[in-house]
Amino acid sequence: MAAILSTKPHQFPAASASPPPAGAGGIRIRGVTKSFTTGSRRVEALRGIDLHFPATGFHAVMGPSGSGKSTLLHLLAGLDRADAGTIEVAGHRVDRLDDGGLTLFRRRSIGVVFQQFNLLPTLTAIDNVLLPGVLDGQHRDQLRPRGMALLEELGVGNRSDHRPDALSGGEQQRVAIARALLLQPSIVFADEPTGNLDTRSARRLWTLLDSTARDRGLLVLMVTHEPEAATHCETTTVLRDGLVADSFPSHGLDPGKLALRAAGTGE
Ligand SMILES: Nc1ncnc2c1ncn2[C@@H]1O[C@H](COP(=O)(O)OP(=O)(O)O)[C@@H](O)[C@H]1O
Ligand SMILES: [Mg+2]
Repeated sequence: MAAILSTKPHQFPAASASPPPAGAGGIRIRGVTKSFTTGSRRVEALRGIDLHFPATGFHAVMGPSGSGKSTLLHLLAGLDRADAGTIEVAGHRVDRLDDGGLTLFRRRSIGVVFQQFNLLPTLTAIDNVLLPGVLDGQHRDQLRPRGMALLEELGVGNRSDHRPDALSGGEQQRVAIARALLLQPSIVFADEPTGNLDTRSARRLWTLLDSTARDRGLLVLMVTHEPEAATHCETTTVLRDGLVADSFPSHGLDPGKLALRAAGTGE
């Protein structure tokens, strides 16, 4: 694990176009609201959220279905815009970026991993990994060694020439993580990343995300509904009805106790 995960960014010329994170990293948001209107129905998905996450570590966001977890992640990742509030992510004021700035922010400052692995079915694993760099105007051949090294580190180096449909769910998610890490983001967002995996693959992935955060010194923020997942994380933040209901250290907690606390019925 250690080799590439601890290698300094400047040793990869392919990613030198990435802007350094300006000022302090991490996440700081204040008074964030977001509502959706469908027909005559208006849903207040986030109703005034203040949050802070440090620049490094593995942290969880939990909460019942519909509590606003994905909405929050989308706003932090610049995939959607808040109605109000300030959003600072990896040194960027995401709420002030124009569309071009948001595109560069998404490409260079963050990585995103979703429940659906979102790999392009016609591309091999390695070409899926290299895609963000190619879209960023970098040369495939220059990116390739880094992409291969990431696949090796994540335990799927021997699957690099396979298309996604020849890979297991766990392997596909590792490829998606390699893709998220290619351009050396400061922060990786993961929305229910193990939702489509069996228990054994899910456990391996939580361990992997934890070591990825630690070895690379980045922030991994994971939305999850699985209490066991949150026990791998330093802290767990609980959303309920679009508000922050709780936030507590969660590493090594008993999953049953964590589930009770996340449900608002624990101590
Ligand atoms: N694009 C959208 N259009 C309309 N309603 C949405 C949209 N995205 C989310 N919502 C609504 O906002 C609320 C929060 O959704 P979401 O953030 O996806 O919750 P979670 O991820 O915690 O399950 C829900 O009521 C959901 O139906
Ligand atoms: Mg969701």
